Amino acid sequence: MAKRDKPLTYAEHLQLERLLSCQQRQSELHGRPAHDEMLFIVVHQAYELWFKVILFELDRIQDIFSGPRTDDSGLGAAIHGVTRIVEVQKLLIHQLDVLETMTPMDFLDFRDLLVPASGFQSLQFRLIETRLGLRPAERVSFDERPVDARLEPEDRVRLRAAEARPSLRDQIEDWLERTPFIQVSGYDFREVYRQAVVDMLEQDAALVRDNPMLSAAEVDSELASIEVSRQRFDSIFDEARHRALVEEGAWRLSWRALQAALFINLYRSEPVLQLPFRLLSGLMDIDETLTNWRYRHALMVQRMIGRKVGTGGSSGHDYLRRTAELHRIFGDLFALSTFFIPRSRLPGLPDDLRRAMGYSYAQGGAQGGARRDAEGGA
Ligand code: HEM
Repeated sequence: MAKRDKPLTYAEHLQLERLLSCQQRQSELHGRPAHDEMLFIVVHQAYELWFKVILFELDRIQDIFSGPRTDDSGLGAAIHGVTRIVEVQKLLIHQLDVLETMTPMDFLDFRDLLVPASGFQSLQFRLIETRLGLRPAERVSFDERPVDARLEPEDRVRLRAAEARPSLRDQIEDWLERTPFIQVSGYDFREVYRQAVVDMLEQDAALVRDNPMLSAAEVDSELASIEVSRQRFDSIFDEARHRALVEEGAWRLSWRALQAALFINLYRSEPVLQLPFRLLSGLMDIDETLTNWRYRHALMVQRMIGRKVGTGGSSGHDYLRRTAELHRIFGDLFALSTFFIPRSRLPGLPDDLRRAMGYSYAQGGAQGGARRDAEGGA
């Protein structure tokens, strides 16, 4: 370790002199100081620091999923990172409350001096979206230009490099595809679950047909919606149907990955599936919190500038609201809930498979502890 002449100070460690001299108000430079520009700058800078933390966590999480094998300890660390990201995201939403202590009129005191600068040019935000899994073709465009056209050339190079690498969504898809237990000797989750669903829907249809309270038209309409559910289920089990839906943009995850995610959700009480389940839930939290931020930011923008165009040239609120609806990254995991059936109808797992998936702590220690022994490995 390098020897120091003086003990390290708080200010040195945090490089406070540099950090605290980075708040240059444009309004002051232009000779018309606007009080609230300080808050505006500091809030944005705080965002960029937290973006840095999110990207740093993503480095580790993506490292864990970069190899052909991910063991339980890696999964635990990944979940830890995901949880941290979600907590940071929540903080990012709350920061907008602080910024909203600035009124629209206070903002107008300096807004004209910002053009054409905009949060639209935040490279770190684009990197977060990209590394999580948002692809250029999935982006909402508000003019004919690609989203990176407004970035500085060196930032564009960094964004393109990130786009060329596997995203977390790609990695999660690979990992899900490697999930063991779904098809092992004597057990095929697809077949067993498909049958359970068909039985459930048939029973539902029988209940509708036998219901004396329903008119003939109501029976037809209920039966038609059960048929729609059946067809949706088909896309989970029928590879060709799934492929067609991917082409329409209705699914993004692969057929195998979706089945694995379904299996993990349904049988999450099995010990071996608890960490995978927590990971999938955490990824949904990231998606949901990012979407919440997008809506919250869009609302704040409407409050601040109404229907004015943004300093970056977009339609402002309208554009941002559309990104909230369409820039979903793990939306497939949400859509999967359509295919859950009640626990009471869930087919049990074969005994030997359950033993392989669980732990048991019997008295006497050594005889207990049946460890799982599965084919494959996640
Ligand atoms: C008075 C407060 C704010 C206003 C009026 C505002 C306005 C806007 C507008 C109109 C856009 C659309 C692009 C454009 O035409 O400029 C935008 C995009 C964006 N803003 Fe803000 N913003 C504010 C605060 C913030 C804060 C605190 C952040 C935090 C970093 C932020 C981050 C972003 C990002 C990342 C985008 C790109 C979103 C996307 O393309 O999906 N904004 N903002």
